[in-house]
Amino acid sequence: RKWNMSNAQQTLAILKPHIVKNPFSLNQVKNIILKSNFEIVCLKRKIISIEEAESFYSEHKGQFFYNRLVSFMTSGPSELMVLARENAIQEWRLLMGPTKVFRAQFENPCSLRGQFGLSDTRNATHGSDSPESAVKEIQLFFPEFS
Ligand code: PPS
Repeated sequence: RKWNMSNAQQTLAILKPHIVKNPFSLNQVKNIILKSNFEIVCLKRKIISIEEAESFYSEHKGQFFYNRLVSFMTSGPSELMVLARENAIQEWRLLMGPTKVFRAQFENPCSLRGQFGLSDTRNATHGSDSPESAVKEIQLFFPEFS
């Protein structure tokens, strides 16, 4: 089936602070995104606030890694993107590879997390995990767009 910008699925992607801090990694990640047929519909570089990070990761509140995750995600600028393509949510998660960096490096070393992930927290990128969370996450970071 042909897709275009009016019927393509959208997902929220975050390039995490250690990627944005390194121009070489950032450029490589963006080239991989574009070569993988995603359209970058919106892009914003910003330091995520503590309130935003807490709301974004509210389902993980109480986990041992929650504080570490919130402080890392607010430690410097991230790049937030709305990505569009056919089956964007699943395709972006495939391109990212597994959340856990050891699994990513072992099972899919060519994935973004396999190549650029440093730890389970600094796992390079985030992607929405369902159509419902994509809508919620895009609304949180791009209220003017949705
Ligand atoms: S899980 O294992 O189902 O909770 O993982 P997931 O829902 O995919 O994402 C968890 C997010 O928390 C971050 N994080 C960690 N996850 C698992 N284990 C450890 N130790 C850990 N530390 C941090 C992880 O980076 C996921 O964030 P995002 O931004 O979604 O990738």
